[in-house]
Amino acid sequence: MVTEITAQELNTELFINEKVEGIREAVGDTTAINALSGGVDSSAVTMLGHKALGKRLRTIFVENGIMREGEAGQVVAFFKKLGVTVEVVDARKEFFAALSGITDPEEKREAITQTFYRDVFGRIVRESAAKCLLQGTILTDVDETVAGIKRQHNVFEQLGIDPQKTFGYRILEPLIQLRKDGVRKVGKALGLPVDLFNRIPFPGPALAARVIGEVTPERIETVRKANLIVERQLKDSGAFQYMAILHEDRVTGMRDGRRDFGQQIEVRCWDSIDARIATPTRLSFEILEKIAGEIIQIPGVVSVTYNIASKPPSTIEAI
Ligand code: XMP
Repeated sequence: MVTEITAQELNTELFINEKVEGIREAVGDTTAINALSGGVDSSAVTMLGHKALGKRLRTIFVENGIMREGEAGQVVAFFKKLGVTVEVVDARKEFFAALSGITDPEEKREAITQTFYRDVFGRIVRESAAKCLLQGTILTDVDETVAGIKRQHNVFEQLGIDPQKTFGYRILEPLIQLRKDGVRKVGKALGLPVDLFNRIPFPGPALAARVIGEVTPERIETVRKANLIVERQLKDSGAFQYMAILHEDRVTGMRDGRRDFGQQIEVRCWDSIDARIATPTRLSFEILEKIAGEIIQIPGVVSVTYNIASKPPSTIEAI
């Protein structure tokens, strides 16, 4: 059982000191590997791990091919400014091979989990002297996985999976008692710049969570372009999270006076405090039209919709 620490009751200084001590104790005089995706949670863990271990922490960004436009370069540059070196590991081929032919959401998540933890990090840990992997699991990830809603790619122990036995290393999760609002407070106290700790959440399965049906390099490229447009247009919206989703259904459209049986993009924009419940943001029609106008320039896309269903029964991500 994990005991929640709410953002209101969180004493950041105490929390940080306790977690830094915990990491030092668990790692002893060896080294640890740190999985950084550049999201709020893993960025906060990186700063905690760096504070605790300094150079004995090896921070890795896995280029899995399903991240947003320019993400690897941005993350490396961001952390360089904070004095943290990030190694980029190219695992694009492995991820696309693992995802090939899979359409079921839970099977996609499982393929991503296995590729991350068994294949990529398994190999990195085996080839180093590390015994531990640090990662940014938060309480909402655990809750939804345990409730059987979605299998978050980074939850193990609560499902009865022992990472030591399954993958050959221990997983440390210093943020597991917090939710997103608490993580933001900790991130701020750890010196993360405001544009980093205030970044909108991004899921572990990355753009694969925004592709309905098979995940291929081509389909990821389409949804990546659409996400970039949505993020740019809505960055000042004040919304909790916003995204584009590629659908599997095709619809008839027309381009250059001919029938174009094309693809559909769904735009979502959420108001929420902690992602447990969420409602669609009442965006102006003007901004929606602007977004749609740009998205239909993407080759093959002929339809753009805006989601107006709340969570629940919807979820924030599409798979
Ligand atoms: P959902 O889609 O479950 O997302 O309403 C809740 C919040 O968690 C973020 N997030 C994930 N969502 N799989 C997910 O489906 C993951 O592995 C994951 N990691 C983070 C999601 O973006 C939303 O903010």
